[in-house]
Amino acid sequence: MLIRAATYRLHVFDWSQKGFGAIKRYNQVYNLLKKPEHPPPLGSMKLALLSLLVAFVLQCVQARFRPWGWNHHHYRPILINPSAQPDLPSAQQASNSAASAGLNLTNIQGDVLIGMRKITETFFFFKITKIRTFKSQLGSTILPMITSTDDMLSVTTQPTTALNVAFSQRGLTALGVRDNLGDSLFANGQLSGASDLGDKTSQWVPQFSASNIDGVFLLASDSIENVNILLFQLQASLQGSISEVYRVQGQARPGDQQGHEHFGFMDGISNPAVTGFSTPHPGQTVVPPGIILLGEDGDSKQRPSWARDGSFLVFRQLQQRVPEFNSFLLNNAPSQPNMTLQQNADLLGARMMGRWKSGAPIDLAPLADDPVLAADPQRNNNFDYTHPNFDINTDQSHCPFSAHIRKTNPRADQSAISNQIIRAGIPYGPEVTSDETASGTSSSTPSLERGLAFVSYQSSISSGFAFIQQSWANNPSFHICE
Ligand code: HEM
Repeated sequence: MLIRAATYRLHVFDWSQKGFGAIKRYNQVYNLLKKPEHPPPLGSMKLALLSLLVAFVLQCVQARFRPWGWNHHHYRPILINPSAQPDLPSAQQASNSAASAGLNLTNIQGDVLIGMRKITETFFFFKITKIRTFKSQLGSTILPMITSTDDMLSVTTQPTTALNVAFSQRGLTALGVRDNLGDSLFANGQLSGASDLGDKTSQWVPQFSASNIDGVFLLASDSIENVNILLFQLQASLQGSISEVYRVQGQARPGDQQGHEHFGFMDGISNPAVTGFSTPHPGQTVVPPGIILLGEDGDSKQRPSWARDGSFLVFRQLQQRVPEFNSFLLNNAPSQPNMTLQQNADLLGARMMGRWKSGAPIDLAPLADDPVLAADPQRNNNFDYTHPNFDINTDQSHCPFSAHIRKTNPRADQSAISNQIIRAGIPYGPEVTSDETASGTSSSTPSLERGLAFVSYQSSISSGFAFIQQSWANNPSFHICE
């Protein structure tokens, strides 16, 4: 019976095609997330100078703004820390790793390496309306407010609200940047790649098809009030030089669901360990920094020097229809003996995802959840689909080939260092209401829409996100075992 469940060739984007519309709406935008220590208006200054400038400016800003209470440290964490997710390195550990790998963590924006951990995060997509004003404010006011990776690693250095910024190709062009960044999917913009990804742009949020997004501010804090205060200050400092195109407000789910996405599965467990930042946990794939960061060791492309330590950001708003997902599991549950219908439905869900809702991997716990395993980062990512006396090319008794995590990171099925991404998204939308549960149908009220604000970072969109979605997730022939 288990084998029968294994024959479901479902993955995250197939789900909607299979009729229960788990994921309906998707948008996507490609942005370059780069600490603007060398924003376009600064012209041709060399990186070394600019790095020094960053350190200097940051210190000045802290001294200058603290007395006024503007975004100063408030010593409350702005990140969640569920036990299933591996701990971030301490500031000292990260600084030691960075020193030995020659990485400068003050030069990397704070969201790129830390994963899916924000308590609340707003994505503020904007269009630049007054280029000269925007350019000058970007260099003078916004740059000192940008949160770096080392800022994020300790509660004592986290700002009240972390701020990052990324630009689309359209935005860079508007700012006068003509450099070739070496990524054609980024240069051509999200619309041009949509059909290759299997997207129907009629299902995109219209603002993403309109091709007028120049950039996005990412604001993360422990409360939406704090995010909104910084957003207000940010807009005031930009003196009317941008207009809002679209906004997505994400937040970690409440209570014991913190860290879980809306279908109920613990998320943010498996991200690659980046050399120069984190020490690998057992089973974690290790990648050189250049797989995620431009211009670093492992990045195979030529990049302009100012782009060093930037990363390409892929954003997708993926709607999740939770009541429909739950009905699908119940209606298609296997019939394992000695298990209730709900237990069989949970088994199907776990085999579709590759993990139980707790986060325990089915490769290690194929028949029943194991919450102790789930909560142990020394064990919960330590598997690669190989098992003694089983042939990895045919064995689906532990984890089906179609499971989301096996489709998106095949581990020992196929070595794929260059296809690794850092996932840094966050759920958006409210909890399922009792009316939705009773009717088994997602509400069509816009404010009740929920899903995943998916974010991935990579130094190559075509090897990272686009490859995973196109060549693995959306490809019914991956993997073929018959
Ligand atoms: C609504 C949409 C999605 C949901 C609900 C979702 C949920 C999850 C969950 C629960 C996990 C397991 C937790 C973990 O290993 O950290 C996971 C892992 C992962 N997901 Fe997704 N995901 C979604 C979309 C995507 C997309 C669009 C991609 C990329 C194209 C993707 C790529 C990955 C990768 C690479 C992993 C890690 C696999 C591993 O290393 O074992 N996911 N996802």
